[in-house]
Amino acid sequence: MGIRPAREEDLEEVLRIERESFPSPWPRRVLRKHLADIFLVYEEGGRILGYIIATVELLPSLEPFLHILSLAVSSGERGRGIGTALLGSLLGVMEELGIGRSVLEVRARNLRAVRFYERHGFRRIVLLPRFYRDGEDAYLMVRDVRRGLESPRK
Ligand SMILES: CC(C)(COP(=O)(O)OP(=O)(O)OC[C@H]1O[C@@H](n2cnc3c(N)ncnc32)[C@H](O)[C@@H]1OP(=O)(O)O)[C@@H](O)C(=O)NCCC(=O)NCCS
Repeated sequence: MGIRPAREEDLEEVLRIERESFPSPWPRRVLRKHLADIFLVYEEGGRILGYIIATVELLPSLEPFLHILSLAVSSGERGRGIGTALLGSLLGVMEELGIGRSVLEVRARNLRAVRFYERHGFRRIVLLPRFYRDGEDAYLMVRDVRRGLESPRK
C-alpha cells in the first residue's frame, strides 16, 4: 500500500486508468518505455489507483528540471487526495535532489487539472496553440521552489 516505483506487471492497470483519463491515451508500448523514467504508482489493496510519470531534462545552459509527462487517478477514486500524494511525493524527492523547477503541459480545456496544478504551486506561463495532435491547445505550467528558503542569500 502506498507509493512505489512502477513495475512491468502494473502496466495492465495503468493502461486502464490511462484509457479512462485521456482523450488520446498512450499505448502500452509507450507506457512500458517510461518504466525507464520516473514512474510512480499509488497502490491500495493490491490495486493500482493512480500513477505519475516524469523525466529529468538535461539541456545545455539550463539547470536540470523535472518534466511531468502524465498524472492520472482511476475515475472512481478521484477527489481522495491520491493525485496530491503522487505529485507531492515526486516533488519532494526532486527538491531533495536539488531540482527546484518542474514543468508540464496540460490541456487548456481541462480546467479541473489546471486548477489542481495551480493549487500545487504551478503557474500558467503560456498557451501553446494546437499542442496536441487532435488540435487542442495546452498551457505550459511551471513551478519553482522559492529560492532563499533552503539556502538564504548572504
Ligand atoms: C487531475 C487528477 C490527477 C487529480 O487527482 P485526484 O486524486 O482527484 O486529486 P486530489 O484528490 O488530490 O485533488 C482533486 C481536487 O479536486 C476535487 N474533486 C472533488 N471531486 C472530484 C472528482 N470527482 N474528481 C476529481 N477531483 C475532484 C478535490 O476536492 C480536490 O480539490 P482540493 O485539492 O481543493 O481538495 C485527476 O482528476 C485525474 O486523473 N484527472 C484525469 C487525468 C488528468 O486530467 N490528468 C492531469 C493532466 S496530465
